[in-house]
Amino acid sequence: MSIKVNYNNMMQYALGDKGIADAQLKECDILAQSAHFLVEAGRGKDMQGWMDSPYDQSEVVKSIKATATRIRKSCDNFVVLGIGGSALGPIAVFTALKHYYYNELPKKLRKGPRFYVVDNVDPDRLNNLFDVINVEKTVFNVITKSGATSETMSQYLIVMDMLKAKLGDKAREHIIATTSQSKGNLIKLAQKEGFETFFIPDGVGGRFSELSPVGLLPAAVVGIDISKMLKGARDMDRKCRSRYYTKNPALALAVLQYISMKQGKNISVMMPYADNLKYIADWYAQLWAESLGKETDKNGNVVNVGQTPVKALGVTDQHSQVQLYNEGPFDKVIAFLEVENFHSDVTIPEGCADFPDVNFLCGHTLSELMHNELYATRYALTRRGRANYTISLDTVDAYNIGGLLYLLQLQTAYAGAMLNVNAYDQPGVEGGKDAAYALFGRKGYESKAKEINSSKPDLDKYII
Ligand code: PA5
Repeated sequence: MSIKVNYNNMMQYALGDKGIADAQLKECDILAQSAHFLVEAGRGKDMQGWMDSPYDQSEVVKSIKATATRIRKSCDNFVVLGIGGSALGPIAVFTALKHYYYNELPKKLRKGPRFYVVDNVDPDRLNNLFDVINVEKTVFNVITKSGATSETMSQYLIVMDMLKAKLGDKAREHIIATTSQSKGNLIKLAQKEGFETFFIPDGVGGRFSELSPVGLLPAAVVGIDISKMLKGARDMDRKCRSRYYTKNPALALAVLQYISMKQGKNISVMMPYADNLKYIADWYAQLWAESLGKETDKNGNVVNVGQTPVKALGVTDQHSQVQLYNEGPFDKVIAFLEVENFHSDVTIPEGCADFPDVNFLCGHTLSELMHNELYATRYALTRRGRANYTISLDTVDAYNIGGLLYLLQLQTAYAGAMLNVNAYDQPGVEGGKDAAYALFGRKGYESKAKEINSSKPDLDKYII
């Protein structure tokens, strides 16, 4: 496994009195061991089916690969319709592992369909998509575990209507459903219409689903080696089997964040120094926020815990957010994602000998610049007592991305256990969904509608 976690800069050793003492880590040892025990005891059970994803999918992988091969030969566009956990993983993995301008490449170089993920219901965005794709040469992958999400089901209805108008009975060949086998509307529609279908196991929740068919089918369609992704996840899982945080990187990261939260560090920044990892930070934001941001713990006590995730990009955000990180409140933990070896490089040419302030760059490469800027930012933050750690990948490939996703999922599960919260529900999201149903007059939500209608009206004096 070529992923390393370096947490020197979380510790008093590097940060002085702003850091965590070895003794503080040791004090958490028993709690960390019991979090590890709980997560292991739940492996594969209830909502921890995601821990089986790296191991038990050989048949699914075979059929995903067969479908992907067919789509790669026959269609021009592949569009994912989904939201939240049913979209962020496919976006993150595609961006990490494919050419930065994949859709603009000629087909000969792409060797597969163009790839789009529509994870919103902005009408302009959907209409804009229809301006650039020919639906007759497109396969739409409708992904919703619950088969009930209004946004995804609306997209499905719009697309299906359009396909039926253009293609009649052949419309069904342009939809692939990825959903729960046992519940929801999409599975019923899929059976009625005869769509090809992949199943999301019951124990795999949306934000933990990238290594299930949710992420594996889109990845395979764009030519990503999904077996290597799963192998990376498997190897990371084996690397994280120890109950001691000193030997288990996911547990160490959970303990460090747990102590940081107790110290009032309520913001968790993820800052990749590589454009292709930008959306890993997006995916992680959902994972961390939705899993840990909870009002009550498992015993029903009001705890209001969680960290606010912030996405940043190195070096771009050095010129926007890093000022705050260096001099603002001590309320953040910054997780850098470092790539040791880029796939290519560019040398900054000579030509500025008369301008020493620019000339010092000449002859160096952009990857050197990237590495030095990361080093320099980390150094400056550490000198000012700002907590940070680094996850380094020797290179960005399918194996390491599978490992990274699994590492972060495991960190989240351990952190949930340490905080004693249910990391797998999202009552706060359901509240908003119910209110939206009520606003649309959905049957069964009459009392919610009544509640909304009786809420305080906006006062004119507060509207300018
Ligand atoms: O993590 C989760 O479970 C959620 O964010 C879901 O992924 C999101 O709400 C979409 O749900 P579904 O896949 O059921 O459409």
